[in-house]
Amino acid sequence: ALPRDLEGRHVVVSAGGTREPLDPVRYLGNRSSGKQGYALARVAAQRGARVTLVAAHTADLATPAGADLVRVGSAEELRAAMHAAAKTADVLVMAAAVADFRPVALAEHKIKKGDRDPDPVALTRNPDILAELVAARRAGQVVVGFAAETGDGETDVLGHGRAKLKRKGCDWLVVNAVGDGKAFEVEDNAGWLLSSGGAETPIPHGPKAKLASVVWDAIASSTEH
Ligand code: PMT
Repeated sequence: ALPRDLEGRHVVVSAGGTREPLDPVRYLGNRSSGKQGYALARVAAQRGARVTLVAAHTADLATPAGADLVRVGSAEELRAAMHAAAKTADVLVMAAAVADFRPVALAEHKIKKGDRDPDPVALTRNPDILAELVAARRAGQVVVGFAAETGDGETDVLGHGRAKLKRKGCDWLVVNAVGDGKAFEVEDNAGWLLSSGGAETPIPHGPKAKLASVVWDAIASSTEH
């Protein structure tokens, strides 16, 4: 049986990939299946937390028992849902793959292919939700980010993760390598858990629930409640 060491805490996890609409039928998206975020939510609920799961686009996944599911589409919707849930959250985990950019304009009607060369799609920057949650963090609130890094082996991936932890200012950062069939969509994951205090825990390759357990172990043992 799992320890009930998250009892009394409100945990908010984002999962899946945002979809940034171009017109009523098209969007810019990414490959996130939501499996990693759902595993984090499921394990937290099993360990006694009250869980809010903010899900952008995901594969067809079962809602973890006991979790409150909030469905969102775009980064802006994810942002609003995270800020609303953050009011009562003890822990915020950003496992969602958030689009960094969105189309400037949302066409009211389906864009026609016409008979001339296509127009380029103008993009604008989305807000950095993780950075906003860090900036708005209350005393005692714990903020966990993810870093999805491509690169050539440990030096690149971990190095980028360390830099991202400093830049984003979160308390914990899970670094996972992506690309070449890693992390996105698959059942397993691997990486490192970095703490703002400088601790670095390698997370061996295994089911996404295993990575989730490493994260919750660290949070449960480092924060009293
Ligand atoms: O969903 P799965 O198929 O199971 O795959 C899991 C995963 C690979 C998507 C997951 O483990 C993961 O790495 N999630 C974060 C993906 C991501 O967007 O990484 P990033 O390095 O681009 O962003 C860094 C952090 O900032 C993330 O916590 C992200 O949620 C957050 N972010 C990014 C952009 C933005 N505009 N706002 C954000 O809050």
